[in-house]
Amino acid sequence: METLSFGKNSQGKETSLYILENKNHAVMKVSDHGATLVSLLVPDRDGKMQDVVLGYDKASDYEGHTCYFGATIGRNGNRIGKAQMVIDGKPCSIAANENENNLHSGPNGFDRALWEVKGHTENSITFSHLSREEEQGFPGNLQVEVTYTLTDENAVEITYQGKSDKATIMNCTNHSYFNLGGHASGSVEQQELQILAESYNPVRDAKSIPTGEIAPVAGTPMDFREPKPIGQDIGADFEQLKFTGGYDHNYVLSSHAGEFKVMANAYCKETGIAMEASTDCCGVQFYAGNFIGDQEGKGGAAYCDRCGFCLESQFYPDAVNQKGFPSPIIQAGETFTSKTSYRFYVK
Ligand code: BGC
Repeated sequence: METLSFGKNSQGKETSLYILENKNHAVMKVSDHGATLVSLLVPDRDGKMQDVVLGYDKASDYEGHTCYFGATIGRNGNRIGKAQMVIDGKPCSIAANENENNLHSGPNGFDRALWEVKGHTENSITFSHLSREEEQGFPGNLQVEVTYTLTDENAVEITYQGKSDKATIMNCTNHSYFNLGGHASGSVEQQELQILAESYNPVRDAKSIPTGEIAPVAGTPMDFREPKPIGQDIGADFEQLKFTGGYDHNYVLSSHAGEFKVMANAYCKETGIAMEASTDCCGVQFYAGNFIGDQEGKGGAAYCDRCGFCLESQFYPDAVNQKGFPSPIIQAGETFTSKTSYRFYVK
């Protein structure tokens, strides 16, 4: 493993970039700033290496934006309505950072933390972080670990482990934006996506808190059971897509329930790069990168809306407040683990 400087963060602390390579010369670069996946170089059909995730060149660039490129999100991925909840019978409120709601755990999210390197092997690295009770407002001190492994099958496997001294939420995800044409290649709307889900969670309005329903995708533009270009139906006259300005919904992986299975497939005709995404989580947020905006990414790349898509494995949004959804709560002393992987190949 090679280690480079990733610059100083806003607290003046040095951050690092760790570089791991597998036997196919695929390369994974991760940082202790936010336990972030910064780069992922995999071969295209001509054997040329393509960096298939969006990112920035240094830690301070991540701090200057709110896209969460490649970051570890926690303790809670996605939204908590009114930034309030009851855990173990006790009401608890956290920062409201998007309207009156909480998104991705607020300003002190795991994406802003400087993680410790707990250890590494030839093909993996484990970051650890002690999330103290007072930092985000959730109950309990949560000890959390994230391990990134680059396998010889060109998969990035991400495992999460958490244990707390009080009942709390443990719902981490990775916020990588994929572009199978290469991170600097522009819109992903022509790239094909399949999501192996029969249903999704409709949202109430533009603030994106679920209604509590689990609605079938059949007969709607939300249906990705068969592969189709991301952009094919994104502009359809369909209220759910109007609320969120394009796909930004949780798909229900009902058959998963702790079983590690394929959740989605994606493909780019131009490069021939395909991705198979798997998880043991019960849901996945498909976000089409609708609000990336025009900005400069790694190596001066020009990023724009929909130049990357996210498949964030998670508990359903606002699950802590919705009785019908699987619960993201872990009990004191319980160890929670989950695993998600993104495998790349050429076809
Ligand atoms: C959310 C989007 C949000 C994006 C970046 C996604 O997980 O669902 O609504 O814009 O993260 O913050």
